[in-house]
Amino acid sequence: PLLTQEDLKRIAAYKAVEYVKSGMVIGLGTGSTAKHAVSRISELLKQGKLSNIIGIPTSTTTHEQAISLGIQLSDLDSHPIVDLSIDGADEVDPSLNLVKGRGGSLLREKMIEGASKKFVVIVDESKLVKHIGGSGLAVPVEVVPFCCDFTRGKLEEMFKEAGCTAKLRVGGDGGKTVAVTDNGNYVVDLYLEKDLGDLETASEKILRLPGVVEHGMFLGIATTLIVAGKSGVTVRDR
Ligand code: A5P
Repeated sequence: PLLTQEDLKRIAAYKAVEYVKSGMVIGLGTGSTAKHAVSRISELLKQGKLSNIIGIPTSTTTHEQAISLGIQLSDLDSHPIVDLSIDGADEVDPSLNLVKGRGGSLLREKMIEGASKKFVVIVDESKLVKHIGGSGLAVPVEVVPFCCDFTRGKLEEMFKEAGCTAKLRVGGDGGKTVAVTDNGNYVVDLYLEKDLGDLETASEKILRLPGVVEHGMFLGIATTLIVAGKSGVTVRDR
């Protein structure tokens, strides 16, 4: 049978949920791949195969999904140590560095996944790249609304040599409004002609700019990668 991309996302997600054990605090990711993991966890809870799971949602969207499925929820204030997080990614490099946040939830994702003992990334094979940020897709940066065009210009200037075009992300209404994150901030998308070179250096430069809240490069945070492809599923630890 021919597997669709949606099938591959589901296969990767179900594989990741095999790591979930009763009594765990679980970071619940955001996006079209992670949503399969959330519904699988709820299914296993309903079947009595899992119990005492506390979910920590990484977005208001996932919060709503988990509530509708009856998963018990908490947050990092009450549960500062997360046993396991499961989430998708937009790009994954061979060292398990990620780009995330095309769905706009990068800040909460990074807080929760960074606080997790184990972070399992689930992707279909289309997300694999040699260098993150160099594939023609954007690296998202969450910025405060105050003078966001100033911040946008500074970011574009910062990566001039990589051929950067920085764009303020607009809403899903055909660009009439600015896209607003769960934290009330905006997103500047960095489109690059070349890769960013040393990622830690690029990360520090971005974070040092006043006006920036966080960026979507997740460096050294993922511990396990599950890739679903046409020829099967692979699991890799960092
Ligand atoms: C949300 O902001 C993102 O970080 C998602 O986790 C990421 O965009 C992957 O989403 P998909 O699984 O829908 O591709």
